[in-house]
Amino acid sequence: MKVRRQQKIKRTSRPAGPHGTPIKAEPKPKLGSDLIPAERYTSADYARREWEGMWKKVWLLGCREDDIPEPGDHMVTEIGGESILLVRQQDKSVRAFYNVCLHRGNQLVHGAHKPLEGASDFRCRYHNWRYKLDGTFSDIPDLETFPQGAPPCGGLNEVACDTWGSFVWFSLNPDVEPLRDYLGVIPKHLDPYHFERMTPTRWVTVEWDCNWKASVDAFNESYHVQGIHPQLLYYLDDLDIQIDCYERHNRYLIAFGVLSPRVVSPSEIPPPIKVVMRGAGMDPASYEGSVYDVREAVQAHKRKHGAEQGKDYSELNDDQLTDDYHYMIFPNITMNVHADDLMMFRQRPHPTDPNKMFFDYWMFELPGEDFDWENYERPTHRQFKYGETSLGLVIDQDAYNLPFVQRGMNSEGYPGLWLGEQELRIRHFHKTIEDYLAGKYDNPSSKGGK
Ligand code: FES
Ligand SMILES: [Fe+2]
Repeated sequence: MKVRRQQKIKRTSRPAGPHGTPIKAEPKPKLGSDLIPAERYTSADYARREWEGMWKKVWLLGCREDDIPEPGDHMVTEIGGESILLVRQQDKSVRAFYNVCLHRGNQLVHGAHKPLEGASDFRCRYHNWRYKLDGTFSDIPDLETFPQGAPPCGGLNEVACDTWGSFVWFSLNPDVEPLRDYLGVIPKHLDPYHFERMTPTRWVTVEWDCNWKASVDAFNESYHVQGIHPQLLYYLDDLDIQIDCYERHNRYLIAFGVLSPRVVSPSEIPPPIKVVMRGAGMDPASYEGSVYDVREAVQAHKRKHGAEQGKDYSELNDDQLTDDYHYMIFPNITMNVHADDLMMFRQRPHPTDPNKMFFDYWMFELPGEDFDWENYERPTHRQFKYGETSLGLVIDQDAYNLPFVQRGMNSEGYPGLWLGEQELRIRHFHKTIEDYLAGKYDNPSSKGGK
């Protein structure tokens, strides 16, 4: 189907000052048009290569900083078969350890994704070996009965840990580069949103029957909007997308509050765009302009009234007041970044089965004057199987196909991904994985962690 563009998206040419998010379109990387082998999504051998060559090399998101705000607060996070203990230290820094007792291998803290408060030390529930907050042994009962003494490592095995953007990050790579080097352009791009001002409103994990990359792919192109999200054609422009690939990470900028050129102009403002207007504090009934001007009217309204609504938009450009600045932090973090909220996904591989994964979903909202603090409760983590909970219409639509995609990927009749230009971020994602597996990042020039 050929589509007729009714009005080109106007993109701002003005970043919000020298510290604003860069808006420049990057030249498109030349990544060819080869088929991406389906085997990368189905093969246990490829999954093992990914674990050794990629997952154990990169920086990974562990938790939100305010999950563990005070000394002794701690939380376990999981990646693949590993369990990692994140601990707030007395000096307020965060350290990360393999969550395993050095005696007979019991997990030191049982249960993942549960922030726990104020430990003074950690006691293994098997034989009472004790560890200080910094991971060192504090007591080994009957130590004199171990002729070899205590394990020479001195305590829990530590992994690199650092913080950025209100989140705690860790890496299983003892030679990893500093987090800031790894993140590259990301802090410059996303610091203006001040995620630390946002408050969590939802945190769930759903087990999906697909490879983790199938889920990453599902959120990093807009081509599927006309396929599975027909209602969004009255909410965003799925064709005029700015795609930017950086070294390892990538983004696209997608205009909200507009019509897709795939649909004919409706006689009145479509309901999803009215939602955008009301969200900004506008009354759609008194709006007299064209549907094509709503986006700019919303931007102007938020710029004018943001401060009185208790929202500081001063570091954001006009487009950021309406649009989705959509970032992928390699390898498994998707951030739908908006002025008033952050919808964040994390894809985690199943420890043994390339046909399964864990989809972590967080919502964070920027509280304005009208935020209902009285009824606010910090969300606790909940885990579901596919179909046991809704993640909202749009993500439910995204999730629906994925088990079928995975079964198709396993078919003899399917050789691999046949990607178009709208799917450039998927090609870039695969190139970065392949670069890791080829050892491109094996020798960073400087070490990370602390
Ligand atoms: S396994 Fe931890 S004390 Fe024995
Ligand atoms: Fe989608």
